[in-house]
Order: sequence, then C-alpha cells, then structure tokens
Amino acid sequence: MSDGSYFAADWLALREPVDARSRVDHLNQALCAWLADRRRPVTVLDLGAGSGSNLRYLAPRLSLPQQWTLLDHDADLLERARDALPPTGEPLEVMTRLDDMGRWSQAPQVLDAWLDGVDLVTASALLDLVSQSWVETLAAAVATRQAAVLIALSVDGDWWLETTAAQPEEAARRRREDQWMRRHYRAHQASDKGAGTALGGQAPEAMATALRANGYRVEVAESPWRLEAPRDLALGEALLEGWRDAVSEQEPHAMETVRHWHAARRASWQRGELVIRVGHRDLLALPATWGAAHG
Ligand SMILES: C[S@@+](CC[C@H](N)C(=O)[O-])C[C@H]1O[C@@H](n2cnc3c(N)ncnc32)[C@H](O)[C@@H]1O
Repeated sequence: MSDGSYFAADWLALREPVDARSRVDHLNQALCAWLADRRRPVTVLDLGAGSGSNLRYLAPRLSLPQQWTLLDHDADLLERARDALPPTGEPLEVMTRLDDMGRWSQAPQVLDAWLDGVDLVTASALLDLVSQSWVETLAAAVATRQAAVLIALSVDGDWWLETTAAQPEEAARRRREDQWMRRHYRAHQASDKGAGTALGGQAPEAMATALRANGYRVEVAESPWRLEAPRDLALGEALLEGWRDAVSEQEPHAMETVRHWHAARRASWQRGELVIRVGHRDLLALPATWGAAHG
C-alpha cells in the first residue's frame, strides 16, 4: 500500500466545510426519492469514509432511519468518525470496518460480503485514487444487488488560479506557468495509490461508464470548490503546498521552478489576489428499472 492512500485528519477537517457547500443538492433529493421505497432502516456503506465527513453531510439530509458502515484502512480516522456523529432526528446506527479496499482486486468475494443487504454505496473524495478494475468490479457488484451509488467530490483533474490584481501580460505568463504545473500534477495523480494505477481525474467518467454498462441511470454534476482568502486561507495554502510537493516529486529536476511558482502564488493568495477553483464531480446512479417505473 503506498503512502498516497493515507490522509491527515487535519486536511480532511480543513476541506469538510468546503466540501459541504460544494456538493450538488438535487442529487440528494433524487436519492431520497429512491430510498423512500426501501425497507427501514436503510443500509449505507461508505467506502474510504475517513473521519466521517460524508456521513455528517449526508445522514441528516436523508431524513429516515439509517444504518451506516464506515469502511477505511485508517483506524485513527475511523475513531474520529465514531467520536463525531451527526444529529439526524432519526435513528442512526454507525459501525466501522477497518479493511483495505485493495483486497477486492485479488478476491472479489470480499466486496460481495461488504455489500450484503446494502441499499446505498457511497464515497466522497475518494475516486481519483482508484483503478479501472476497481471501478468495474464495484459497478458489477452493486448491480447484482440493485443498490444506489452516490460518489461525491471526485476531483476531475482541473484547477485554476484566477489572478485579480495582475496586468494582462503578467496574467498570461502566470496562466502558462499554472498550465505547466497542472500537467505534471495530473501525471503525478495517475500513479499507484494502493488500488492499482490510479484513474485520477478520469475516474468520474470511468465510474459513470461502468455503471451505465451495468444497467444504471447515471447523473454526473459539477461540484467545484471556489476558494477565496481570507475565508479559505488555510485550505488554499494546503492546496498550493500539495501541488508543489506533487510536481516536485514528479519533476525532480525542476525543483527550483516549482519552488519559485509556489512562493509567488502563496504570496498572491495571502494578499487576497487569487481565487482558487478546483474541479470536482458528484455522481448519482440509480437502477434504470426503478427510473422507468417512476417516470
Ligand atoms: C481523501 S480521503 C476522504 C475521506 C472522506 N471520505 C472524506 O470525504 O473526508 C480518502 C480516504 O480513503 C481511504 N482509503 C484510501 N485507500 C484505501 C484503501 N485501499 N482501503 C481503505 N481505505 C482507503 C483513506 O484512508 C482516506 O480516509
């Protein structure tokens, strides 16, 4: 398992409010309509649940009795999730399962056991880490159970830094530098993060295609982050640092260029002269047979 699949609790806490304000609400409503037909409590499996951000966002919005299993390979994050359950106004049972999703590529029956009796498979901020075979195995397995799938906040590989203060020539130079960084960052994303060669920004489309091939009606909607200082100062700094570190690892010979890029963008960000946008996608998939019956 590569270190790229472990995440700091501080990073997840920083992104949680921004994730919540970026998610696409009409997908929750379509999901609620589908869940209304299911027996109570509805059972939910949260893959790569981390410290429980997806649970805290989604459980109060489902407004019905729920039983969640949070699956992750990081025991410390799962403990944090157990310590911060959301108020829902409905019965909520939460279990945690310490396990490695990489296991199902060797033994698909592992996934079958996890999915037993599950109504909804969900995940957030996970999909860029996974491989094509992970996506295909999951799509086939959920289809045998006719479970719903809601996968939120998958990065699509795009980010932009909009400069509010630079002259046109300076802004054009910065855009070229950002493009160079983005290209190498994407190459870095497409490395093995523990579940095979990672799909990176291609993952939302790959997941949608696999689910459609298994008889699902799929909607993919944009859920971009839009960050401004000072409100999102710490998250923006963490992102700039993350891009710097990833590209330095990817292009070690260009360390000085990357360091210079980072110092200049960080200074602009701290002065409030940048808007940072990061592309994400939310995906909802429901069995097509249900869609046909409900118009
Ligand atoms: C970016 S975090 C997202 C966490 C949470 N869903 C959220 O939105 O805050 C990705 C999560 O996937 C988990 N993860 C990554 N690879 C995994 C694997 N092979 N098996 C189990 N969990 C994994 C990490 O431990 C981490 O908690």
